Amino acid sequence: MIQILILTYFYCSSPSLAANPTFNVQTFGAKSDGKSDCTNAFLSAWGAACAAPKPATIYVPRGKYLLRNAYFNGRLCKNTAITMRIDGTLVAPSDYNVIAKSGSWLRFERVTGVSIYGGTLDAQGTKLWACKNSGKSCPKGARSLAFYNSKNIIVNGLTSLNSQTFHVLFDRCQNAKIVNMKITAPGNSPNTDGIHLERSSGVSIMNSHIGTGDDCVSIGPGNSNLWIENISCGPGHGISIGSLGWDLQEAGVQNVTVKTVTFTGTDNGLRIKTWARPSNGFVRGVLFQDAAMVNVRNPIIIDQNYCPHHKNCPDQASGVRISNVKYQDIHGTSSTQVAVKFDCSKTHPCSGIRLDKINLTYRGKAATAFCANAGERRPGLSSPPAAYRPIN
Ligand SMILES: *[C@@H]1O[C@H](CO)[C@@H](O)[C@H](O)[C@H]1NC(C)=O
Ligand SMILES: *[C@@H]1O[C@H](CO)[C@@H](O)[C@H](O)[C@H]1NC(C)=O
Ligand SMILES: *[C@@H]1O[C@H](CO)[C@@H](O)[C@H](O)[C@H]1NC(C)=O
Repeated sequence: MIQILILTYFYCSSPSLAANPTFNVQTFGAKSDGKSDCTNAFLSAWGAACAAPKPATIYVPRGKYLLRNAYFNGRLCKNTAITMRIDGTLVAPSDYNVIAKSGSWLRFERVTGVSIYGGTLDAQGTKLWACKNSGKSCPKGARSLAFYNSKNIIVNGLTSLNSQTFHVLFDRCQNAKIVNMKITAPGNSPNTDGIHLERSSGVSIMNSHIGTGDDCVSIGPGNSNLWIENISCGPGHGISIGSLGWDLQEAGVQNVTVKTVTFTGTDNGLRIKTWARPSNGFVRGVLFQDAAMVNVRNPIIIDQNYCPHHKNCPDQASGVRISNVKYQDIHGTSSTQVAVKFDCSKTHPCSGIRLDKINLTYRGKAATAFCANAGERRPGLSSPPAAYRPIN
């Protein structure tokens, strides 16, 4: 009793002397055996951290922790400095239906100032992909880690394995840093995008390796001020802006920098894709700089007739206006003859497409380019291979 009183006294009278609280999930009942359901223990630790009046840490020791869908709600959270330090692995139940019913496995909503350091997420998506690939009817699946309506987020040193659908999602977020991330799923796993951004601003993704069955990074409508640097991508479908332009009323994408990326054996490298439908969306102010392509099918591509699997294609003209896109220092090998493809909208041609120092080869020779509605051709503008026609 006396001890408690003294502690309380110090805590209240001189906060600088009291250490910031750490909430170990094991003290809330989590077991590191990979079999006991730890969802409630994690949520209790979250509740304690939210209620703490100063920066707090949620600590996850080594070991495996089984979690069902966990919803970390920030609506009633007073704390704007919560660190989750993870030394262990969070695993989803082996029955994919358990987490697939909800859109996300680990969901943060309306949180401010959450940082996740370290850790591994293993969503065990294999059986769900097998179901999907067999053509049976299966649940859509859950994203592994999703942030909605949140700001000031850091994810540093996290590994994500075998998500059911997207590994990481940021939707309507501001100011997020994703660094030192490792994302892994097999090349044939359906819809396992690495990081998907939607309606977010001020997001940077750096120093990460992403290998998946879909886009390494995909940038949906309404994103701005994005910085993507030092990423290795492969297997996967490359780094994509889009798909965009499905909706008539759609927020645009602007101010995106993608630099120092390596694509290895991917379907695409640097891609912008829009549906061929009316839309008031746009893409403006994009810099693709310093990319190395290793055996990439479409190293540089703008596809405004996007229609995967050529099923139920809208077959109209895309209304998405693409302007001011610069490609600089893009080099390496293409696995197809046409390494640069600009298939722009016939009603809203691309404008301000600039190429500088492009050197892409196919089987040891200069690769070629295809351009439709991509602005004027001005041969000899840059120093690419002879067969390559730069356009402005
Ligand atoms: C680039 O990212 C890798 C991790 O994928 C890291 O090891 C390396 O240090 C980073 N390079 C720079 C210059 O930060
Ligand atoms: C573009 O985005 C970067 C961050 O990626 C930011 O630093 C810069 O201020 C933005 N530029 C404009 C004009 O908003
Ligand atoms: C283009 O790349 C090839 C293969 O890497 C290299 O041999 C060639 O010198 C490069 N050309 C220019 C103009 O940089």
